[in-house]
Amino acid sequence: MNNFEYCVPTRVIFGRDTHKNIGELIAGYGFKKILVHFGGGSVKESGLLDQVEDSLKSHGIEYVLLGGVRPNPGLGLAMEGINLCRKENVQFILAVGGGSVIDSAKCMADGVLNPDIDPWDFFMKKAVPGKALPHGNILTLSASGSETSLSCVITKEEEGLKRGFNSPTHRPLFAVLNPELTFTVNKFQTGCGTVDIMMHTLERYLGGATKDTPLTDRIAEGLLTSVMEAGEKADKNPVDYEARATLMWAGSLSHDGLTGLGRDYLMQVHQLEHELSGLYPKIAHGAGLSALFCSWARYVCKDAPMRFAQLAVRVFNQEMDFENPVYTARKGIDRLEAYFKSLDMPVSLRELNAGITQEDFLLMADKCSSNGEKTLTGIRELGREDMIEIYRMAF
Ligand code: NZQ
Ligand code: ZN
Repeated sequence: MNNFEYCVPTRVIFGRDTHKNIGELIAGYGFKKILVHFGGGSVKESGLLDQVEDSLKSHGIEYVLLGGVRPNPGLGLAMEGINLCRKENVQFILAVGGGSVIDSAKCMADGVLNPDIDPWDFFMKKAVPGKALPHGNILTLSASGSETSLSCVITKEEEGLKRGFNSPTHRPLFAVLNPELTFTVNKFQTGCGTVDIMMHTLERYLGGATKDTPLTDRIAEGLLTSVMEAGEKADKNPVDYEARATLMWAGSLSHDGLTGLGRDYLMQVHQLEHELSGLYPKIAHGAGLSALFCSWARYVCKDAPMRFAQLAVRVFNQEMDFENPVYTARKGIDRLEAYFKSLDMPVSLRELNAGITQEDFLLMADKCSSNGEKTLTGIRELGREDMIEIYRMAF
């Protein structure tokens, strides 16, 4: 096990009706004026935004509204938000929505208190935000884990470039997690969320060569089996509270660092996927992951067959073939693919129906490898040619 530091300072408020106390919660921190950030309309349709506004008003909290965050959020709206926060002198940003809204809020929070730095420089790793406006969220979709994570992922629209970076400033002050708020999430987005939650743990589990992390492994395996079961239940019955609750809590745990503690990893499939939804913003992150993951796994599993075989045995109930662990590894990948299919999630790039062409593979691999200058470390180091091959296999 490697040395590690684990600090997840976000206050989690979990359960039915928890969002109704949002005014009281924010008043408790002493904030008097806030910005409420949301997406394309689901929070209006569900009545959640009205409930939030009523609660803020009843606690004397002034607020300005900024909606319109699109999935795979863009820098343009975040820049607008930064100006609005400064103009209105807000003290706090409340994100009400899924990962896209929360990430847009994080980007704004960094930008507001660092007026001399172009916010995109943070994503290009040319600058680091030393401070940020405090922010918190009411989560409406279990998927990204952004509600407690230290990541923020934004797309610079004109370049079709989607980039993320980690910073302690991205840990929200609080996350209000009411599983009931996800009852209205449709079948497709529920599937995308289930995939994304699994990927955050799987990429930690399979993403590096560290040995001897038995406790972290068992936590990861427990999370994966629970999420697969809950994902299937929520797919069949969207108002199954227990299933939605499992997905919501797992979403946070899967990306707050817990399931990779003590391990080396780089999330290679996430990096390959970000090129995809950066170029085609209509592609949902979880769908892009399910389209790529099994091809990536088949490409790299020969380099760590015992690791993949362990997953196959412990999570997918396969028998271990000690003579041929690659065979066992591949059977596990086949089972995972079958699971994605059972949720009607795409398992190839063609199924994304986004108009992806073979020429795109070169462009995406160029971007992902900085024109061949950068490789992605992992159980197998991936260079530009490997990336092209994985995209080709996934086609
Ligand atoms: O915009 P609205 O109208 O709210 O509709 C959204 C959106 O169309 C809808 N939705 C959300 N809650 C709903 C709902 N519809 C009905 N009922 C509800 N309760 O769902 C659609 C997708 O929302 P979005 O926020 O885009 O999804 P998700 O939470 O999957 O976030 C995806 C973004 O997060 C990034 C992804 O790359 C992508 O940009 N990620 C962020 C991470 C982080 N910050 O830690 C890590 C992840 O790996 C990921 O990269
Ligand atoms: Zn993800």
